[in-house]
Amino acid sequence: MKHDLVIRGGTLATASETFAADIGIRDGRIVTLGEDLSGEDVIDATGKLVLPGGIEAHCHIAQESGMGLMTADDYESGSISAAFGGNSCFVPFAAQKKGQSVADTLATYDGRAAPKSVIDYSYHLILTDPNPSVLEELPGVFDRGITSFKVFMTYATRVSDAQFLDILAVAQRHGGLTMVHAENHDMLTYMATKLAEGGYVEPRYHAPARPALAEEEAINRAISLARLVDAPLMIVHVSTPGGASLVSKARHEGAYVFGETCPQYLFLTREDLNRPGMEGAKYICSPPVRDAATQAVLWRHIAAGTFSVVSSDHAPYRYDETGKFASGRDVDFRKIANGMPGIEMRLPMMFSEGVVKGRIGLNQFVALSSTNAARLYGMHPKKGTLAIGADADIAIWDPTETRVAGKMHDAMDYNPFDGMEITGWPVTVLTRGRRVIDRGELVAKPGDGAFVARGRTDLTGLTGTRLPETDPATNFGAEIL
Ligand code: URP
Ligand code: ZN
Ligand code: ZN
Ligand code: ZN
Repeated sequence: MKHDLVIRGGTLATASETFAADIGIRDGRIVTLGEDLSGEDVIDATGKLVLPGGIEAHCHIAQESGMGLMTADDYESGSISAAFGGNSCFVPFAAQKKGQSVADTLATYDGRAAPKSVIDYSYHLILTDPNPSVLEELPGVFDRGITSFKVFMTYATRVSDAQFLDILAVAQRHGGLTMVHAENHDMLTYMATKLAEGGYVEPRYHAPARPALAEEEAINRAISLARLVDAPLMIVHVSTPGGASLVSKARHEGAYVFGETCPQYLFLTREDLNRPGMEGAKYICSPPVRDAATQAVLWRHIAAGTFSVVSSDHAPYRYDETGKFASGRDVDFRKIANGMPGIEMRLPMMFSEGVVKGRIGLNQFVALSSTNAARLYGMHPKKGTLAIGADADIAIWDPTETRVAGKMHDAMDYNPFDGMEITGWPVTVLTRGRRVIDRGELVAKPGDGAFVARGRTDLTGLTGTRLPETDPATNFGAEIL
């Protein structure tokens, strides 16, 4: 068998196995796993870990926020930073503006992504205005391989419960997954208003303005809405023990419910919001960072399988007038852009603090960073594993390299994880057999990444929770779903 490229001598790990083998690649795909393979081009991976390339499933790239603010990263800097962090593929958001058609929304993001991305990409479609004509467009969205939506329960971009149900029902019919930002909007508004009235406006008050209870209420409601129509649901950026328990309980009951958490909830606390001056603004994200006890509980939920993915929620707004302070330097916390970067830090942090420190196993790391995202977002087994026929999306890691985190390759002027000592870094990253990062150097060009048409969500292991009220056998024959 002729190979364009062979990765020789490494230790391979998938979501289920770890073994020594060479990988033979032809036409961008893995065609051989074996011993003593030869090829026109060879990468020596002796002493290295060879993993499926990471899939970053939650990041904001070339996207306007709910406040209308453009992220600092476009598809060039965003994809480059993702690749340096061990990712071969990412799925940012295409955000519908109110009144905008889905066709127009997707055309806008195609224009932003196609010429610039160095890694493969797709989008989750954020729906902010699911009016009847938009709902009619959605089947066509599945046909072009976009099989996940996102909705907000807070911000100006929020949808009502009725609109949320309409979206869940469409996704259910087409085998797609709806992601939700779950926080109770009125509880947040009440708290923020009371705090501001009392003169409590510094960045630190972002934390009390967004109580854990507001997340838990919204997660409970989101799960209830999804169960009503038996639709798959992904609760993104779960930041509370109560929220994680709700996800876990729903999964144990068979509901098509998935959870995601993010490094900021594992590595930062509200003490970071309390830094002097306006420095706390760097740590404003929503839901807010919590406390050390929460971190410990979230790690246990990661180890126990409550969370299918750990994503960065990379939302890059610089610590200047283009980002955090777009509404001025001397503003209250309500006007400071929400979000922090992390697309390049996610996998090294999870490897170092998870695998090296023994909180999770290597195979679980692969599942959380790549395989589960591929399954949930309809890219498996083309992406997310090392198997014959899969795309050669591969990250080669040096598990012993230790570095202190500093400036990353994104367009940001700060790194919230600055100064962390991290052991284990990706050194070479391939997308479809093509080197994107080669021994720490960028070699791919903008536009080398390709759009990935995605398929149905893999619901293996869950049964769904059809209610007696929607089951024709027990609701006097009414066909509802
Ligand atoms: O604070 C955050 N996470 N901003 C990004 C938008 C979102 O909520 O996902
Ligand atoms: Zn269809
Ligand atoms: Zn969110
Ligand atoms: Zn987000």
